[in-house]
Amino acid sequence: MANPPKADDTASKAILRLLRDCFEIYRETQRYCDITNGVRNILQDLSLHILDIVENSIDAGAKKIEIIIKENVKQNMLVLKIKDNGKGMDKNTIAKALDPFYTTKKTRRIGLGLSMLAQATKEADGTFQIKSQKGKGTTVIAKFVYDHIDRKPIGNMTETIIALIAGKGMDVDFIYEHHKNSHGFVFDTRTIKKEIKDIPINNGEVLNILRENIIKELKRIGARP
Ligand SMILES: Nc1ncnc2c1ncn2[C@@H]1O[C@H](COP(=O)(O)OP(=O)(O)O)[C@@H](O)[C@H]1O
Ligand SMILES: [Mg+2]
Repeated sequence: MANPPKADDTASKAILRLLRDCFEIYRETQRYCDITNGVRNILQDLSLHILDIVENSIDAGAKKIEIIIKENVKQNMLVLKIKDNGKGMDKNTIAKALDPFYTTKKTRRIGLGLSMLAQATKEADGTFQIKSQKGKGTTVIAKFVYDHIDRKPIGNMTETIIALIAGKGMDVDFIYEHHKNSHGFVFDTRTIKKEIKDIPINNGEVLNILRENIIKELKRIGARP
């Protein structure tokens, strides 16, 4: 079209713009699906979701992070709770946090951690909750039907905790509590730091001892070591 009439020109320009917008949305959706599928493939165990949620807490400047797992076979329920004393979120941010297109990270435009865990609870007929107070901290609670066919396995909690201590144990304290039915244990890096005095908690030998310790406790309560 060499010289289209003026009126048509505006209409066709508008249509072109609309098409371009549609294409942009399509591309963005496609990209989102690719990323979601990729992340879904990686996050096969709940322990990996936990690592991801704890990363949020670390990003939020938390110095104390509690990881609580309750396996209650009688009530047919599995509860995960991650509680931090980081910078927290106001009401507005909590509402947005579950939106996969919301992130405060500067490097990308998609934030999937919370929405992926929420999705995992939905798949196992569970519930998902975020409680947060600006300046105080955040608690994420994920509940699952224990024997639901689509409930992801807990995965390797020992290596999850050891990896967190190896990476962040010098700056952050971790309290890992695991209960199975009427048995349970609490693993607290603040207590360990007092016991080992000047030896850094991320020391290889210390980590080996802690690893053995967690495995022993998990076996004692009848959970997967
Ligand atoms: N524990 C937390 N403390 C403070 N803000 C949080 C916390 N967890 C999540 N957020 C906020 O919610 C957003 C979305 O989190 P998430 O779904 O894990 O995606 P991502 O971490 O990739 O941004 C984060 O960018 C952050 O702004
Ligand atoms: Mg995250």
